[in-house]
Amino acid sequence: MSAEIQSTASHAAIALLEWYRAAGIDVVLEERPRDRFAETQAEIEARRARNASPSARPASADPSHAPAPTAKPIAGPSDSAAFPTSRVAVPDDIAVADARERARSAANLAELQAALADFDGCNLRITAKSIVFGDGSETADVMFVGEAPGREEDAAGVPFVGRSGQLLNRMLAAIGLEREAVRVTNTVPWRPPGNRPPTPAETQICLPFVQRHIELVRPKLLVCLGSPASKAILGSQEGILRIRGQWTTYSFGIEADEAIDATAMLHPAYLLRQPAQKRLAWRDLMALKTRLAAKSAPN
Ligand code: URA
Repeated sequence: MSAEIQSTASHAAIALLEWYRAAGIDVVLEERPRDRFAETQAEIEARRARNASPSARPASADPSHAPAPTAKPIAGPSDSAAFPTSRVAVPDDIAVADARERARSAANLAELQAALADFDGCNLRITAKSIVFGDGSETADVMFVGEAPGREEDAAGVPFVGRSGQLLNRMLAAIGLEREAVRVTNTVPWRPPGNRPPTPAETQICLPFVQRHIELVRPKLLVCLGSPASKAILGSQEGILRIRGQWTTYSFGIEADEAIDATAMLHPAYLLRQPAQKRLAWRDLMALKTRLAAKSAPN
């Protein structure tokens, strides 16, 4: 190969890599290329067959009729082969209904995690390395919900372990809370490619799982971190700088007969970019501490 051809080829390769990076593809997931068109077709046909057969529909809402949970281990960072990677799902009404049924049928967090591992209705799982389900106490008094896992969380399979997570830990410590004593999760359990925000459809599909997560933990206080989580979970319409620090009630999404106190706070990632806003976060943390003390005081 002449030097000129070689140089053109390496320029083209570099340009291709640049293009991938600009499109948000910054992690190599597999050794071999995959024919996603063939996988999509196979998945569409499998889904059609499932929907055509009534016995294959999701289980009833009654947990006593729920299928026995398949205690499938959740894929860890080095365990991406455990994912059913041959599945490609298209967000649609069936996916939302399926998510609702699966979430509702989970009687505890282990079952919910297993249900999520079996759920193929959200395309985010295709590019993510692991399911980032949740972290911390399963009976926490305070629960935090963020937006979506980032690169570090995807690698570790644990929410809020990167820079934002480290700041969150310091924020908790400032009001005397251990990270292990609270519950932490996200509105979507898979890292969106290139850390893009989850789409409204992806958030909608995953919502029943996070709602059930909150319901199963039954915290006394719920804190949504940032605007996307506040919109998805609390239904807030206004920007985070307007709603932060205000308290509202959150009715458990599935058994809507019980309500807990809920609020929104600035997301640690935002605070890392705008350190001057930490004073607002400090105020909100103090209010959280006071409310928690009041909730925990004997009557
Ligand atoms: N940001 C989030 O919203 N969630 C995480 O888990 C990490 C960063």
